[in-house]
Amino acid sequence: MNTLESLQPELAKVLDSLSGEARTALERDIQTQDFNMLANLVKEHSAAIPTGAGGEDEIVPMPFPHSEVDLRREMWEETGKILLKKGEVAAFTLSGGQGSRLGFEGPKGAFKIGLPSGKSLFGLMAERLKRLNAEAERPIPWCIMTSPLNHRETIAHFEENHFFGLDRTSIRFFEQGTICALKPNGEAVVDNNRLMLVPDGNGGCFRALAQSGTLAWLIERGVRYVFLNNVDNALVRICDPVFLGALANNPGIQISAKVVSKRDASEKVGIFAFKNGKPTVIEYSDMADDLRNMKNESGELVFDGANIGIYAFRIEVLRKLSQAPLPWHAARKTVCGIEKCWKFEQFLFDAFETVKGFGTFGAFREDEFSPVKNADGNDSPKSAREMLGKLHRHWLIDAGVKLSGDSLYEISPTLSYAGEGLSSKIFERELGKNILEFKA
Ligand code: UTP
Repeated sequence: MNTLESLQPELAKVLDSLSGEARTALERDIQTQDFNMLANLVKEHSAAIPTGAGGEDEIVPMPFPHSEVDLRREMWEETGKILLKKGEVAAFTLSGGQGSRLGFEGPKGAFKIGLPSGKSLFGLMAERLKRLNAEAERPIPWCIMTSPLNHRETIAHFEENHFFGLDRTSIRFFEQGTICALKPNGEAVVDNNRLMLVPDGNGGCFRALAQSGTLAWLIERGVRYVFLNNVDNALVRICDPVFLGALANNPGIQISAKVVSKRDASEKVGIFAFKNGKPTVIEYSDMADDLRNMKNESGELVFDGANIGIYAFRIEVLRKLSQAPLPWHAARKTVCGIEKCWKFEQFLFDAFETVKGFGTFGAFREDEFSPVKNADGNDSPKSAREMLGKLHRHWLIDAGVKLSGDSLYEISPTLSYAGEGLSSKIFERELGKNILEFKA
């Protein structure tokens, strides 16, 4: 059997030099890690020559039929609303990321994109859930995956906001797993006598859901469908009844993904495709230029289906995935001032090829996808604020409200979840209350 001394000689020395509380803390960190596995990962990834997608593999674009024009849409919505009423739906938000590109100190969900209401990303989701709760006449369970780096701050944000008026006992926070960053030679990075532990990727969500007892909690409550979303999409229609109803009405589908068209060939987003006949997402950086830019006879991108981090799962599949080994991906990053350290992570989309029955659900970007990734430019707080303002302005125009000027609007989900139920009368009554006007 390999010992800590043989696998991690430097770490073993640090541990030897410690006593008391410091020693106990480091021992606790060490117990969370499988150093045998980490040694194998370093060996494997040092030997691998990255070929990128498209080398030896057969890559075919995955179609994503548009749900807005589907004649079954009303039926799906009705089914989804029945599921919500029966308590068979839960929300699951991934919030364990570090949000390094945005550069916000704190959990990304607590970030405010500058709307006149001052709502945070969690606040926007919570209000939409509240609206669905009112219609369903019951609280929808909401699972929020954090990481040890942001767990306490996430709960504090909810506490400060009185859980946004939601039923506290229907919200469950749990931490995802962590993995130790390694120096280029495979030795663990140690900082202040503690292991440098980083979140194990969004693919860790299946394991964490089960290991935290949250999956059992959902099953006990009778949940059969789980809506999963990234924390940073300001337009997410959390627990969208249409999306969930479409999944429930198709017994052949186990996992469904919402898909929008790419903004343009250069958008840094993963693309849904079949790789050697199996559903997958090809990361922007793994896609060969010729595939990325390929156009059809009408001049449209061939690989056009963007992965926007919105999925619906049947609960049985989540149970299976919590035990399925997903591959580890390696990134080389500077950690604690040491260049080219190994950071391993798992990706949620690697689960797709392991299940039978994967479906896509086409949606419009302007209606449903405005991620907050960067501090400025594309996919920033400013772009998200403007997209939300434009969308809500369109909702008012579609409802027959005569608007002059170019103001943008923020409509509270207490009035409308996806544009329904608005009118000129409501506009006049609610302007300055649940409808707020702002400038781009
Ligand atoms: P991103 O890949 O955009 O990462 O996460 P990020 O951490 O938010 O931002 P950067 O890349 O550091 O700038 C997509 C979703 O996956 C979650 C994030 O919270 C986000 O909702 N995620 C990511 C996790 O829950 N855990 C992880 O380990 C990584």
